Amino acid sequence: MKKGDRNLFVFLVTFVIFSVSLWINYYFLIKHSSYLENEVVTAIHQKRIDEMQPSYDDQIPLCEELMQQPHSPFADGAFLTRKTTQVVWKMRRDGSRELTLPTTCRLKRYTAHEAGKCLKDKSLLYIGDSLTRYQYLSLTYFFEHKKWPMRFQAKRNNPCLHIDEYSNETCSKAEEPSVCAEGDWKGWPEFLQALGGGNDGGIYHGRMEAQYVRSPDVMANAMQYVASEVDGRIKATFVEEVGWNEDEEWKGWNFSGCAYNATCRYTQEKYDENMRKYEQNEFDWSYSNITSAFSEGTDFHSQYAYTNYVFYNRGLWGKIPIAKAHVMLVALNALTGGDENQSNRCFFRSTTGSERSRDSNLEKIEYGFVRDIAYDAGCEYFDIAHVTDEFSRMLFRFPKPPRSRLSYEYSSIFWDAVHYVPWVYEELNNLMLNMLCNSQK
Ligand SMILES: *[C@@H]1O[C@H](CO)[C@@H](O)[C@H](O)[C@H]1NC(C)=O
Ligand SMILES: *[C@@H]1O[C@H](CO)[C@@H](O)[C@H](O)[C@H]1NC(C)=O
Ligand SMILES: *[C@@H]1O[C@H](CO)[C@@H](O)[C@H](O)[C@H]1NC(C)=O
Ligand SMILES: *[C@@H]1O[C@H](CO)[C@@H](O)[C@H](O)[C@H]1NC(C)=O
Ligand SMILES: *[C@@H]1O[C@H](CO)[C@@H](O)[C@H](O)[C@H]1NC(C)=O
Repeated sequence: MKKGDRNLFVFLVTFVIFSVSLWINYYFLIKHSSYLENEVVTAIHQKRIDEMQPSYDDQIPLCEELMQQPHSPFADGAFLTRKTTQVVWKMRRDGSRELTLPTTCRLKRYTAHEAGKCLKDKSLLYIGDSLTRYQYLSLTYFFEHKKWPMRFQAKRNNPCLHIDEYSNETCSKAEEPSVCAEGDWKGWPEFLQALGGGNDGGIYHGRMEAQYVRSPDVMANAMQYVASEVDGRIKATFVEEVGWNEDEEWKGWNFSGCAYNATCRYTQEKYDENMRKYEQNEFDWSYSNITSAFSEGTDFHSQYAYTNYVFYNRGLWGKIPIAKAHVMLVALNALTGGDENQSNRCFFRSTTGSERSRDSNLEKIEYGFVRDIAYDAGCEYFDIAHVTDEFSRMLFRFPKPPRSRLSYEYSSIFWDAVHYVPWVYEELNNLMLNMLCNSQK
């Protein structure tokens, strides 16, 4: 063999050995990648859980203590969602998270009994988009059932992946679908009928009236819940505002008052009848837009005249024009101002974090002039966008990414591009209860 040939031979052998070893490595990695990935994911989660079990818990005050001090500047609870208040979503074993304010104060975990005592005889009104609808349904479920909806939606044919510290599953079941996840239901008519009382009282035991149909066109769908005497007679109403413009027609039907005596039913026949009325434009009231409906002296307004707390959220339907924000918040301040007692409050509630609210720059717009207008009108600013800011940084693109840390994170918080899984509403509602109730001794 010539010297050049030998060098070439050595080179070739080295190259072959190198290639084979690369290939073996590659093969091993591919074959075991799901194993490795799970290990990594578990390790990351464990690390997070460890990091999030700090010892500050006993060193910071209860939020209640701060709010109840004599002449407390914190009494209104505004600081709970203020931008300078640090928010940490602490991991739970089942993949849901607990909302904590680790450098500010410890939130109280309200029981339904405590909430009922605090909000006894009060009337709450929520005006907003589908995100507000789910927050409303979560809260009224809590009043009626004394517990929050299951933390995750049903997994249809897949096993539930969320297990708490008692090894209990924390997903809703196919036979008990969640009020916070429309995807749990066969369709809208079925879902809305179950909310509004169905044939037998439905999920809310006849205490929820749903003047609500799923319509292709704009209308003011509404729901009214009234708790029993024993549960404090809390009244909570939701009116859905949809439409991209500021001047959509605002029309719908009166409540009958069935929620007061738990006689609400929403049968297929009644639903069909409402659809027929909708198609033939037969409404109890009809206004050229939402702001004129909320002006004093209208039929619509008279139904909402006794409101203690109102939360308005324009939500994902684009940015609210300055003039509309002004008229609306002034009207809502007037709506809650008719009571001699000083407990009445109106809020602009900023829009929850999601990729879509981030892309349309909603947070900046709302935190800017809308917040100024809310204060000018004598209302307050409940900054949910700040609290859920972290969630707006979770990207989700079709096609769905393969199972990875990113998609696990994503699917344990969102069930579509904008809607949260049920546990998020539980945390936001508990925060709201802290704001409204902590100052009451
Ligand atoms: C967990 O589930 C068991 C039944 O499997 C039940 O007895 C127990 O009360 C549940 N624990 C909690 C905390 O929900
Ligand atoms: C809303 O309706 C009122 C009364 O019809 C009208 O004066 C006002 O200009 C409308 N606002 C918008 C934004 O269209
Ligand atoms: C319940 O309230 C409705 C509406 O106010 C009324 O028509 C109905 O008679 C009441 N039913 C009972 C059983 O009190
Ligand atoms: C709707 O309610 C208003 C206010 O209570 C009332 O004036 C009006 O007559 C009602 N309309 C119908 C069709 O019942
Ligand atoms: C104001 O509060 C007092 C004491 O709780 C109550 O008796 C009264 O009815 C309230 N006023 C109104 C208009 O709700």
